[in-house]
Amino acid sequence: MNVSEAVKNRKSIRAFLDKPVPNELIRELLQKASRSPSGGNVQPWQVYVINDTAMQDFHKHVADSTEPEQAAYEIYPESLKEPYRSSRFKVGEDMYALLEIPREDRGGRIRRLMENYKCFGAPAAIFCYVDRQMGKPQWSDLGMFLQTFMLLAQEAGLSTCAQEAWATRADTVTRFVKAPDELMLFCGVAIGHEDTSVAVNSLVSQRRPVEEFATFI
Ligand SMILES: Cc1cc2nc3c(=O)[nH]c(=O)nc-3n(C[C@H](O)[C@H](O)[C@H](O)COP(=O)(O)O)c2cc1C
Repeated sequence: MNVSEAVKNRKSIRAFLDKPVPNELIRELLQKASRSPSGGNVQPWQVYVINDTAMQDFHKHVADSTEPEQAAYEIYPESLKEPYRSSRFKVGEDMYALLEIPREDRGGRIRRLMENYKCFGAPAAIFCYVDRQMGKPQWSDLGMFLQTFMLLAQEAGLSTCAQEAWATRADTVTRFVKAPDELMLFCGVAIGHEDTSVAVNSLVSQRRPVEEFATFI
């Protein structure tokens, strides 16, 4: 698989098979992904891996953690501008159409949202943290690291879903992984084998054309 194929084939997978992913493979993907560039080679990513039986313990921990908590950061700007707002709306509606959960079924949509907090049934996940000292440039480095990781996972026959939903349960995750106070959670990435039998995984999200986001001077 070349880079173009990995980029084209990667998509967010939101239902996984009950098939294990060896820690050695995740370690190898992390090692390869660590070749990602970062400003000043700071390498600001700090990763916690939850896999296999630890994932089962984690599910229990999440279910038992019922205290309300404050989100680690605001996931989207309060009133998202166009064209970003429409893009976000479209992918959400396309996903719920595949899941056959109409807009009026608020309970159904909330229950579906809660699947985030089960890593969509993935056997493994990484949680990507960053030192609170770091600013926007280093946060962008995290994005590069995560995309590299997801492409390498694709090459290895795995599927992924980045999950910033965990920002709203950051305290719960942090208590489980025992991350020090100086770190804050950016997102999780669910990792596993795609369940191809479910409609939601057939979602192919749209992209705006190059003419709309690039200006050649
Ligand atoms: C940093 C990041 C966080 C994300 N968080 C979530 C999430 O919490 N839940 C979810 O279902 N998808 C999440 N996604 C997936 C996006 O919705 C998805 O990447 C986007 O719709 C494009 O679709 P694609 O990944 O299939 O190409 C996230 C993606 C990124 C890059």
